[in-house]
Amino acid sequence: MREVPQAAKLRRPQVDAEAEIAARLRSCLGRFATGVTVVSFDAAEGPRGVTVNSFTSVSLDPPLVLVSIAKRAAAHEALRDQPFCVNVLGAEQEALAKRFAGGNAGAHPRFDYEPGRAPRLLGALAHVDCNPWRAYDAGDHTLFVGEVTAFEHLDGDALAYMGSRFTTLAESDTGVEYLI
Ligand SMILES: Cc1cc2nc3c(=O)[nH]c(=O)nc-3n(C[C@H](O)[C@H](O)[C@H](O)COP(=O)(O)O)c2cc1C
Repeated sequence: MREVPQAAKLRRPQVDAEAEIAARLRSCLGRFATGVTVVSFDAAEGPRGVTVNSFTSVSLDPPLVLVSIAKRAAAHEALRDQPFCVNVLGAEQEALAKRFAGGNAGAHPRFDYEPGRAPRLLGALAHVDCNPWRAYDAGDHTLFVGEVTAFEHLDGDALAYMGSRFTTLAESDTGVEYLI
């Protein structure tokens, strides 16, 4: 029988404790309800996307937004220095959210594709076109800050995410931000 090195035996409880703390932190941060977006961009093989809920508006002058992308995601390197579009998903687009999070191969995204800008996901509630502005290192993620070059939105219910579950937000609860 192969003997387990003493150092490995000693390390295991600490690794378990760290994994448990990380899981609890994830669960805690998951109480923060968000919308759901697909960040789309051009790649050698055609338009690509990644599901992202770390989308945040940052500045109006200049107009800046950010998305936080895991370094281990394939999109991470592909997105560097690329124009991108933040597509805010509507309530009926859960399948697309799953598709761009690595699941649901059954969903068939369609892109509006114009030269000179990132592909837009058809049917999204809002499109925010961005040019790369800065990228900041942030632990196991990179914060990609984009300068908004164009935007548009539709009315409709929004897809939302909380506690690792998809839900929806009725239109009547949104769209009053200009009053605030
Ligand atoms: C609702 C939801 C939100 C997500 N938000 C993010 C995010 O903000 N940043 C991120 O890096 N990954 C996020 N993910 C995970 C990525 O979508 C997932 O890892 C994806 O498979 C990465 O694809 P890629 O490796 O092809 O780039 C999210 C997944 C879901 C379901």
